[in-house]
Amino acid sequence: MIKQNILKMALKFGLFVFLVTLSGTIKAHTKKIDKTGILLVAFGSSYPETKATFKHIEHEIRLKFPNKEIRWSYTSKIIRKKLRARGEFIDSPAEALAKMGEDGFNKVAVQSLHVIPGKEYEDLKKTVKAFEGIPKGIKHIKLGKPLLYLHSDIELLCNALVDNLPKGIDEKDAIIYMGHGTHHFANVYYPAMQYYLWQKSENIYLGTVEGYPELKQVIQKLKKKETKKVWLFPFMTIAGDHARNDMAGEDEDSWKSILEAKGYKVESVLEGMADHKQVVDIWINHLSEILSELK
Ligand code: CO
Repeated sequence: MIKQNILKMALKFGLFVFLVTLSGTIKAHTKKIDKTGILLVAFGSSYPETKATFKHIEHEIRLKFPNKEIRWSYTSKIIRKKLRARGEFIDSPAEALAKMGEDGFNKVAVQSLHVIPGKEYEDLKKTVKAFEGIPKGIKHIKLGKPLLYLHSDIELLCNALVDNLPKGIDEKDAIIYMGHGTHHFANVYYPAMQYYLWQKSENIYLGTVEGYPELKQVIQKLKKKETKKVWLFPFMTIAGDHARNDMAGEDEDSWKSILEAKGYKVESVLEGMADHKQVVDIWINHLSEILSELK
């Protein structure tokens, strides 16, 4: 009798241990299923001055999504190579996604930090698509829209820029934003943005380095006014190479030099659009959208 009781107790204990182990395994599995990561994708920059802007973006995103791991990648091969020579290793989006799959993320929200849905964004879309459904890789992957995508983004960005203009700009001064511009049809976002900026003030202009409108179209408009002073701002995520050289550089073909040669007093502001929380919030809107789709 005693032996039988001991046997029964041992069996019960065994069953208990088995159930505890099983529930532990189930928990571990559920935990794995919920591993969602954020991959931020920027064009990148080799200018150390831009690091603070990238940090600011990450800081704002971390505040909003404190429990999500955030990783970075740069789309520019040239910039990644330059950084590598200095001992800074930043993944391409494909490298970063492969690592995230390997590290057990089953859900990844890829957030583009580009300004318009142009060539860079289209390439990123292809990369993200290629990672969909890779065996033993990331199960669910979504791509967040760039800064300007929805019609409402144009309005939000226009407000964010005007709200964050520095003090000291006179009503008669002109403000010129330098956008990148592209041959891709998404270039239409620049003239669209110009239209909205003109609703705020007819002294705010937007030109591009590689698209339309160009600086010469901006100057044609300026000539019709009695503008004496011009403020230059990058219409870019960060104040990188284009801002420091093509916009504010000392070479005679920089926007600063061209405008000074025409008799304008020029003040360059080397800040990226992403230095402003109100701007980062637009990207966060797009990121929130894909994160809720991944739930
Ligand atoms: Co460029």
